[in-house]
Amino acid sequence: MCGIVAYIGNKEAYPILIKGLERLEYRGYDSAGVAILESEIKVFKRAGKVQELKDYASGHNTAGNIGIGHTRWATHGEPNERNAHPHSSSDSNIAIIHNGIIENYAPLKEELKKRGHEFLSDTDTEVLVHLIEDVQKNNNVDLFEAVRIALNEVTGAYAIVVLSKDNPNQLIGARKGSPLVVGMGNEEFFIASDATPIIEYTKNVVYLDDEEIALIDRYNGLSIKTIANQIKTPYVHELEMQLEMLEKGGYEHFMLKEIYEQPRSIYDSMRGRIDSKRGDIYMGGMLEYKNVLTNADRIIITACGTSWHAALVAEYLFEDLARVPVEVEYASEFRYRNPIINPGDVVIAISQSGETADTLAAIELAKQKGATVFGVCNVVGASIPRATHAGAYTHAGPEIGVASTKAFTAQVTVLIQMALWLAYNKGAINQAKLARYLVELEAIPAKVEEALKSAEEVEKMAKIIARSENALYLGRGYNFPVALEGALKLKEISYIHAEGYPAAEMKHGPIALIDENMPVVVLATKNSQYDKMVSNIQEVKARKGKVFAIVTKGDVEVKAMADRWIEIPDCPEELSPLVSSIPLQLLSYHVALLRDCNVDQPRNLAKSVTVE
Ligand code: M6R
Repeated sequence: MCGIVAYIGNKEAYPILIKGLERLEYRGYDSAGVAILESEIKVFKRAGKVQELKDYASGHNTAGNIGIGHTRWATHGEPNERNAHPHSSSDSNIAIIHNGIIENYAPLKEELKKRGHEFLSDTDTEVLVHLIEDVQKNNNVDLFEAVRIALNEVTGAYAIVVLSKDNPNQLIGARKGSPLVVGMGNEEFFIASDATPIIEYTKNVVYLDDEEIALIDRYNGLSIKTIANQIKTPYVHELEMQLEMLEKGGYEHFMLKEIYEQPRSIYDSMRGRIDSKRGDIYMGGMLEYKNVLTNADRIIITACGTSWHAALVAEYLFEDLARVPVEVEYASEFRYRNPIINPGDVVIAISQSGETADTLAAIELAKQKGATVFGVCNVVGASIPRATHAGAYTHAGPEIGVASTKAFTAQVTVLIQMALWLAYNKGAINQAKLARYLVELEAIPAKVEEALKSAEEVEKMAKIIARSENALYLGRGYNFPVALEGALKLKEISYIHAEGYPAAEMKHGPIALIDENMPVVVLATKNSQYDKMVSNIQEVKARKGKVFAIVTKGDVEVKAMADRWIEIPDCPEELSPLVSSIPLQLLSYHVALLRDCNVDQPRNLAKSVTVE
């Protein structure tokens, strides 16, 4: 949510900032701006995409070796040019970019107004830069100290970078609750919300922790202090990410590329963890907490959005295979409702980005109450894996499309392995059964490959659904969370109102919506509830609903009832979400294309939700 990039070094800052903003655009695309220091600070900003900014700045002098850039997802103030970052101090000598929310901005603003500060925007961020200016003038301190004192006065979340005309060889970055990473190049430094704008120049990065302030001096390098004035020693990590992972690689959209990457990303999420011949499964993070896990009376799984759907799949898996009670919680509700968590409880937090504010807060709450917290996260080094006791990375690679696809199947792949590990270690399944599951799991990438071949048939379905303003998705058992996920995909990128429902629940309300205009996507694969699903489909047909079915290869009965159908390969129902979700991802993609929607950057959304 909001992308930050900054550069200081020997090169021209502007092209590096623009390229960085393009890589970060998935974090927010309401407006974009840069500030570059030559002899004065030059600010360029525009409402809309980075391209608007590029077009505008192309006729101007953008020279300078130090600068900051921002792409915004609006919280305070409309997404217009006035509210776009960077924001400047009264004397225009300090510029700031910010990701997060300054919660006490209103009283601070009133106080600063009384002291003569005038504000040009509706943002909370502008208050912060005025506060820094005010502190510096009134306390006669250097910029770093002014930033430190100012940050002690604000409440809320922030990742900021500050640029000052009077400090032409320095950048200051700080974080609390929003991510910030420093790239350590050769006589040059970068600061960004994540590593994507940095990877092209250096693999050496330092992740800032909460309440840390980094001073980057072009000649003296990086030094870090906390806002409580404690000196910290920077720890340099080496990035494993490759540049190609951040590019479209010939696909029209990142989302399509990511859908087609799934045979590989699912494989990567199990690589090195399973040995089907021996019937062995190795989960490093879980091994360390074997006693806690095998003795847990219950498991709570918390997440948001698509990751919450993966959590629902996990509920079925853990209860079915490991026979342990599971509760699935929206992180945003869990954190505020005083939940009962006891020492000895296990909490699993799932997140692609590892930065989701509500999920992070839920983790902190669970830790305070004595639970052992595991993370299932895709982004290496993100806040969630650093806040949890242990966990497992999903290894899906960077996911740039705002609609989550390969991250979902990678999460489910890891959760299947966790459930199998626990089931085996609790004695709920024996080694022979574990080995059979692992053989089936190894076969999944090829089955996903086959499911991807349904694209042509999916496009035909998409042509019909694209004309509708509503859709229902129905599934039972393991297919119920897949129905929810299919509906979310459709609504978020094509803006069609879609509801996912447990198929049997339909007759308790949603059935009233069904008429000859209502597309109903049914997940009717061969599983333990197939016959029940057939009855539910008949209920839809009886009301003239249009049935679009996902069926198992060789199906006869459902095909005979469906208006259109897509076949997917057979697999054990515990693993089936990995395959049945594929045609639904493709369906939402093609519907969005037909409706001329921005597939990778749907309106109002951002990839990483770092505000609550
Ligand atoms: O990064 P996270 O997995 O924590 O993000 C959670 C949701 O914001 C995310 O899954 C969102 O729902 C996706 N855009 C859905 O495609």
